[in-house]
Order: sequence, then structure tokens, then C-alpha cells
Amino acid sequence: MSYDVILPAAGSGKRMGAGKNKLFLELNNKPILIHTLEVFEVDPQCRAIYLAVKDEERTFIRSQLQQYKISKVKAMPTGGDERQHSVYACMKEVVAGAIVLVHDAARPFIEQATIHRLVEAATEKGAAIAGVRAKDTMKRVENGIIQETIDRSSLWMIQTPQAFDFELLMQAQVKAEQEGFLGTDEGMLVERLDQQIQIVESNYENIKITTKEDLVFGEAILNRRQG
Ligand code: C5P
Repeated sequence: MSYDVILPAAGSGKRMGAGKNKLFLELNNKPILIHTLEVFEVDPQCRAIYLAVKDEERTFIRSQLQQYKISKVKAMPTGGDERQHSVYACMKEVVAGAIVLVHDAARPFIEQATIHRLVEAATEKGAAIAGVRAKDTMKRVENGIIQETIDRSSLWMIQTPQAFDFELLMQAQVKAEQEGFLGTDEGMLVERLDQQIQIVESNYENIKITTKEDLVFGEAILNRRQG
């Protein structure tokens, strides 16, 4: 079952504090961005990759694609101020016809089996997103004071990939843009269409490299997989 993937890679990585795009930082001598791209490059079901980039980083990224022999990138539109806008910029380039997967370029440890389960579920239901069950006790806090403990059995921590029927995601994005709605994931935009979204259980290794500790966790994951 074929799919196209959108990888937003136009963030500034402020929380990493590296002074450059965190996706250019290396894990075991290879940039995070390349680790993520390679997952899709080698997946025969992936038809094309759409990468949202910053204008000033486009030339460098192009040279990296050549160096690491990444051949499936079909377009590199300019990203926006918010992640949602970067994803939308890519959607405008995607050739309709396949399921569209949105995946943070900063999550290099996604497994092919999870991607394929998402594509299957989205083909059947229209929308499917990856997540893991909440592990910790969850409480709602206001002004530093606990308000309530929330029953964790129904809580999931949401990740990417998120997979959608192309027309459905386009419709959700157009509506969000028209109404000035900003979400933290594409799932939030699609929920506003009253569309059911299937959860697909992913795993805890599918971390988003965000802060310095994540680089340590990331290398540990890679070493275990390679060792
Ligand atoms: O900052 P954070 O890690 O949550 O961003 C998730 C992904 O979205 C990253 O791969 C980042 O490069 C991308 N992004 C983007 N455009 C933005 C902000 C983030 O493409 N304006």
C-alpha cells in the first residue's frame, strides 16, 4: 500500500540550544535529518518525500541529500513560522492519490512496521495516528496546585507519524487556515471535521529529539539496534 510522506524540517530547535537546526546534529556520526530520511528512502511503499525547509538551509540540505544518496525527495517548499504551516506548504506540493503521512523530521527512530500499520488503518478509516499509553500518573494542575487526578487508562501520548486520506487532510488544513486555528498536530485539525481517527500503538523509542538529553537517549537506541 503506497503512501507519500511530509517531513517538516524547518524548525529552529530553540529547546535544544545548539545554535543551529537540531536536525543537523549527529547521532553516531550521521545527521538526525538523514536518519529520518533513510527510514522512508528504503521503504518500498513510500512513493515520495516532501520536505519543508528554511530558505537559508535549502542549499546545505540539498548537498546532504546528495552525499547520503537520498533520491525520493520530490519537493522542498519553504516552511512557515509554525509547524502546521510547514506541513501545509508541503501539502500544496503533494500529488493527490496516495495516503499522506506526516512525520516530524526530529523522530528518527520510527519503525517501518508502525508506518505500515498506520497506512493500512488510514486506508480503511481515513485517519490514523501513532501514540503510546501514558505511563505516569496524570494530574491537572493550575497555578501550581493539583486540581484532579485524571484516569490514565484512557490517556495516550501522541506522536507522529499521522496518516490521512489526502482529501481529508487538505480539507482540514483549509478549514484551519480560514478560521485561524492553530493545532499542535494534524490530528487536531482533522478532529474539527468530526472525522473518527484510529489510534495505532507505537513504541516508546519513537522519541522526538528535542532537548540535549534526547541525544544521549538517541545514541543508546541506535547502539542497541546496531549492536
Ligand atoms: O520543535 P519541534 O521538534 O516540536 O518540531 C517538530 C518538527 O517540526 C521538527 O522536525 C521541526 O523541524 C519541524 N518544524 C517545522 N516548521 C516550524 C516548526 C517546526 O518544519 N515552524
